Amino acid sequence: MKRALKKVSRTGKTAFRTKPRTGSFLYTQSPNRFSEVRRKAGLSIGEVADLAGCNRRTVYRWDKGEIIPRKPVFDLLEKNAVFALKDSADDPLFTFIDLFAGIGGMRMGFEAVGGKCVFTSEWNKYAQETYQKNFLPDHRIAGDITKIEAEDIPDHDVLLAGFPCQPFSIAGVSKKNALGRPHGFLCEAQGTLFFDVARIIAHCRPKAFLLENVKNLASHDRGNTFRVIMKTLREELGYSVDFRIIDAKAFVPQHRERIFIAGFRKDTGFRFKDLCLTSPGEGPRLNSILHPEDGMEQEEPPYTLGPNAKVADRYTLTPKLWNYLQRYAEKHKAAGNGFGFGLVGGGDTARTLSARYYKDGSEILVKQKGKRPRRLTPRECARLMGFDQPGRDRFRIPVSDTQAYKQFGNAVVVPVVEVVAKHMLSHILRLTHYAYVTQPEQETMVAAY
Ligand SMILES: C[S@@+](CC[C@H](N)C(=O)[O-])C[C@H]1O[C@@H](n2cnc3c(N)ncnc32)[C@H](O)[C@@H]1O
Repeated sequence: MKRALKKVSRTGKTAFRTKPRTGSFLYTQSPNRFSEVRRKAGLSIGEVADLAGCNRRTVYRWDKGEIIPRKPVFDLLEKNAVFALKDSADDPLFTFIDLFAGIGGMRMGFEAVGGKCVFTSEWNKYAQETYQKNFLPDHRIAGDITKIEAEDIPDHDVLLAGFPCQPFSIAGVSKKNALGRPHGFLCEAQGTLFFDVARIIAHCRPKAFLLENVKNLASHDRGNTFRVIMKTLREELGYSVDFRIIDAKAFVPQHRERIFIAGFRKDTGFRFKDLCLTSPGEGPRLNSILHPEDGMEQEEPPYTLGPNAKVADRYTLTPKLWNYLQRYAEKHKAAGNGFGFGLVGGGDTARTLSARYYKDGSEILVKQKGKRPRRLTPRECARLMGFDQPGRDRFRIPVSDTQAYKQFGNAVVVPVVEVVAKHMLSHILRLTHYAYVTQPEQETMVAAY
């Protein structure tokens, strides 16, 4: 059996530039963009050499980023990438469901390794709007997960959920004890959104799952929340579970720590510690996501305007807000508190973008020469969260700035999910394709990513 392992961007279209733009978003993150696009188009070095009518050595040099090929070569890859998307949509490596989907950060990460989304649940109408605009409307988005019967969810291999964190009621358990009623950890989680995740796992028995949450989940409610979650997943649902806190700083210029909990129906040997990550200190800096404002980027109203695509004035803080933030920071400094705004430049890394960024933007304020600082634009937020990546279509932002800030502030960092998905892939395949994929075939499939 030989399955196509060709993966491309969400829409299959790829934006290319022929001219390197040092310091710009597209260029700094990926000097050997050719290699990235070639892999997404699912072509080997030899296949590209045949298609482009040149020798393999030249293709190797393109691949290593030693020389940059001409535009027609990229056009050729783009054409193949479109076919590859069709392949992967019709013949996915595995299927998954996207719960608490937000704007689809988890979905993007798992699509990138060959998964196909077969069910989505998200109840916020603005998040639904963004989700719908960015992903092919292959299925209707379901709303409130607490109202959805597990029997109505289609079969799937992998369950994804970035559920909100809530405390579990110990009181409820004690009462059950007092009444002499049997109870399990699942009972303990009743009334929380984790309970809904657990009941769907219990019914659908996916081969694997990935849950994502804030780092504090581990210490929330003095560790009780995490204890219930792990015991439910391991002891009650019988999954082999591992977790890891990952800082997105290695992938995007933002310090953002999130906990990832991966589970497999059988112990496939999956261990998070085997996932090699770049050191956070070596991650990209803000100049890779800020608007260059030098004409190298096309204007994108209302974020950037004019021939040089300058950031619109609406993002510069008003004198009133800037004075207020400075006074507030001074007051707290005098009282010995750490509160302050985060003033950053191109060489820095941002603090965590939060869902409340729309309020005053204080956690990430961009310095401006001779001007008051400004907020990030929603487009910059899309880049900061890895929703916009080099060589891919721009993420569509159909909502107001306020909603966009909330959505990106709530989201996962896509490249982080991608590496986790990549790390999980061979283990997912072991459970989904076990019967008919030999070990060497599996290694080849996985190596293609
Ligand atoms: C932390 S965010 C997840 C963001 C997502 N991982 C992303 O990358 O955009 C949690 C999401 O769960 C949604 N949500 C909360 N309660 C829900 C419910 N009962 N049913 C469906 N969605 C819900 C929220 O609207 C929010 O978008």
